[in-house]
Amino acid sequence: MTAGRAPWRRMALAALGTAAALALPSGARAADAYPAKPITMVVPFAAGGPTDVVARTLAAAMSKNLGQSVVVENRLGAGGTVSAAYVAKAAPDGYTILIHHNGMATAPALYSKLPYKPLTDFSFVGQVADVPMTLLGRHDLPPRTLPELVAYIRQNQGKLNLANAGLGAVSQLCGMLFQKAIGVDLTAIPYQGTAPALTALLGGQVDILCDQTTQTLPHIKADKVKLYGVTTTQRIKALPNTPTLSEGGLKGFEVKVWHGVYAPRGTPPAVIDRLNAAMRAGLKDPAVAARLAELGAEIVPEDKQTPEGLRTWLQSEIEKWSPIIKAAGVQAD
Ligand code: MLT
Repeated sequence: MTAGRAPWRRMALAALGTAAALALPSGARAADAYPAKPITMVVPFAAGGPTDVVARTLAAAMSKNLGQSVVVENRLGAGGTVSAAYVAKAAPDGYTILIHHNGMATAPALYSKLPYKPLTDFSFVGQVADVPMTLLGRHDLPPRTLPELVAYIRQNQGKLNLANAGLGAVSQLCGMLFQKAIGVDLTAIPYQGTAPALTALLGGQVDILCDQTTQTLPHIKADKVKLYGVTTTQRIKALPNTPTLSEGGLKGFEVKVWHGVYAPRGTPPAVIDRLNAAMRAGLKDPAVAARLAELGAEIVPEDKQTPEGLRTWLQSEIEKWSPIIKAAGVQAD
């Protein structure tokens, strides 16, 4: 008898389950099934460049963990702000996410009409990795060391240019700090990312570029560019014999690039948790760690890989850079 009633009990329980699921807010149901289709990871700079390299390494690792493709889409323009504005306005369903760097913190001071608010228009997923920068010259630029470069720039005022990836790019931030430190202005040549900027440097069309090791190391090792120093306070493992810019005479010079993953504001917490878990699992993958280390990048400690770790870091970076940028008098509409 008992056994005979079991199918009815099962059906009743199933019906209750369906009713309970229907009573859930649709966001919670969607989060349950998430991800049910490919996710787009928006990258603010050119394909093949430093942000793209970190994005593609992470996207491949996250795809494995999520069981769905994480497809990288490069949306270029305005020093990264085109991508950030796009993701800020995307549906908050976890299918459009953004990877961005320090530009998230510098844009509010650089753009008077920024169409998004970094701290309130996004849900935070977590921080990824830090990357040092290198100050480079075209291969046939005469100076061999940083003091020689500074002297050469002073003797050739108005003649040298500096490539960057636009206002909001770290190459622009580093170049701006360099010009302030030496007290000379260089002619800025903006590109849509440092991939094309580095191509121009390698081709001898531009003179100087500050760019991330994730892109520059192979060219430095192949002796295709002049290397004047690294932008971190300590020398880096990948280039142990290269002095820091601070050692070379620009006391206290420091730019370190950091990366964060964001989703539009209002993305369900369960979806953020899933993305965060996939991101952290990816960063634990030994192949990912080895690939990033090979490019001079350093995975951030686990407390920074959290949504709150990214939010507090972004806030501190906005507070750090805004007064420096305002004092430099650099701003676009
Ligand atoms: C890039 O990926 O092209 C760079 O991160 C741009 C920059 O910020 O310099």
